[in-house]
Amino acid sequence: MNSSNLIHPGLIWPDQRGKHIQAHGGGIFKQGDTWFWFGEDRSKENDPDKRYVACYASKNLVNWEFRNQVLAISDPENFGPEWVLERPKVFYSKKTGKYVMYVHIDGRITPDHWSRYSIASLGIATCDTIDGNYQYQRHFRPLGLESRDIGQFIDDDGTSYLIFESRPTQGFYIAALSEDCLDVEREVAFIKAPLEGGSIVHYEGLYYAIGSALTGWWPNANKYATAERLEGPWSEFKDFAPPESHTFMSQSTNLIKITGTEKTTVIYAGDRWRPEEQWDSRYLWMPVEIGGGNFKLPEPMPWSIDVVTGQVTVQK
Ligand code: GAL
Repeated sequence: MNSSNLIHPGLIWPDQRGKHIQAHGGGIFKQGDTWFWFGEDRSKENDPDKRYVACYASKNLVNWEFRNQVLAISDPENFGPEWVLERPKVFYSKKTGKYVMYVHIDGRITPDHWSRYSIASLGIATCDTIDGNYQYQRHFRPLGLESRDIGQFIDDDGTSYLIFESRPTQGFYIAALSEDCLDVEREVAFIKAPLEGGSIVHYEGLYYAIGSALTGWWPNANKYATAERLEGPWSEFKDFAPPESHTFMSQSTNLIKITGTEKTTVIYAGDRWRPEEQWDSRYLWMPVEIGGGNFKLPEPMPWSIDVVTGQVTVQK
């Protein structure tokens, strides 16, 4: 097989221009036969006062075309010089025909507060096209709660959910969005486990939720739980990779489900952060072994997927 058809976990992942993909802490959104990957654009040449989100498109999950810096904004509300914009996720509202981007927005709640993550809010930005220039709208705390890492889950029936971590209650919420996707409307579940980087997939009648421990940029042993309904009850959380590997030195960000003609494949998409050289942070994408309540991330190896059949080939 041509090596350009392979996904190489942990290596530089060049886009069609030959530049390393800048879509850290990202979200994947499928429309028609195209996947869109949104994420933090931490390019070295970016203006340090601004925060950026980039969008890439692919029809095979291997070759990604850079589309646009869909968000490139200066501090929109006086959050302060160290303000934070992370983990963008894009939703589409059938009702309004608009795209709505959710981001974790943060900064010091008072200028002398010890934590630059004390604003703990969501920001939203909207656009008429998927890869156009998103316009920042507002920030808020979902359901009035502190919100840091966010995740996205779109169920098989098309319902959009936001997952958000809430430090004071030590756990993460699964919440339904309003029909226009402009608000977080209803708590569906609160999973009491101190985890972030939350992501969910629905596979053969079971929901699987994954998340990482709260160790910032440093990787830890990520865990999973299952439930028959999103509302729960959720099982205990268990390791899904050898704990000493620190999830093969990655942090959970997304679970991507590929429903092929022969097989449904679930991909773990994690970040390998490089806090001092954010632009060089890497991605660890790997198909997982899933089913019957079990979930396992195998040791990362180069692999390929046929997105039509859903079949995966792992290089040994
Ligand atoms: C991680 C989080 C990242 C980023 C980082 C900052 O826990 O998942 O998105 O916020 O902390 O330390």
